[in-house]
Amino acid sequence: MSAAPPKGKRRTAAAPRHAQPVAACQGVDVRQRAMREDDLEQVLAIEQRAYSFPWTQGNFVDSLRAGYVAELRVDAQDAVLGYFVAMPGVDEVHLLNLTVAPPHQHQGHARAMLEEVIARAQALGAGSLLLEVRLGNVRAQELYARRGFVEIGRRPRYYPAAHSAREDARVMRLALGLTRAPQTP
Ligand SMILES: CC(C)(COP(=O)(O)OP(=O)(O)OC[C@H]1O[C@@H](n2cnc3c(N)ncnc32)[C@H](O)[C@@H]1OP(=O)(O)O)[C@@H](O)C(=O)NCCC(=O)NCCS
Repeated sequence: MSAAPPKGKRRTAAAPRHAQPVAACQGVDVRQRAMREDDLEQVLAIEQRAYSFPWTQGNFVDSLRAGYVAELRVDAQDAVLGYFVAMPGVDEVHLLNLTVAPPHQHQGHARAMLEEVIARAQALGAGSLLLEVRLGNVRAQELYARRGFVEIGRRPRYYPAAHSAREDARVMRLALGLTRAPQTP
């Protein structure tokens, strides 16, 4: 994912939807809904557990105010299980953050959220979905490779790493076939 969300005006994302029940994950009643600023306390607690170099509150606030596609997976009590943030561009959507809360990993939530991002990108008329992933994050790379993402390049020293070092990013792309007419912003 991006080290931090890029700033600047981008094409407005499709209007957020209200919480919708989605396929149950291992028997848990899961819903997907738009992320709001009052969710950020929960989101940041997960972010800080999931990453050595987490996004800041400001990164999330900027993304929400810029109108990026930002959604949560929540349980029946509205507790956050995972989330994603994606930035619509002219012909592509850039997945900036996709995270599952550590206690809820290995239950298919990431795969389900990835499908939602792909559907949203297709609805926006994007030709491709792009992301960066740390070279050392093999697990996330597996997730993306299994869904058909392919490496299209590297960004040397893109991410901060321990002891003031930097880590390269692998840039991955999924080509999207349009299944319906794009939504107008
Ligand atoms: C990477 C991450 C999003 C995966 O979330 P998850 O909900 O555990 O993933 P899922 O249960 O949906 O598994 C999806 C796929 O991920 C891969 N995967 C998951 N756990 C794995 C593991 N321990 N080893 C290897 N691959 C694994 C597999 O391809 C798996 O597909 P499969 O179920 O067909 O084997 C999650 O570990 C996470 O949030 N990590 C910290 C944040 C992060 O690295 N985000 C990605 C930044 S690019």
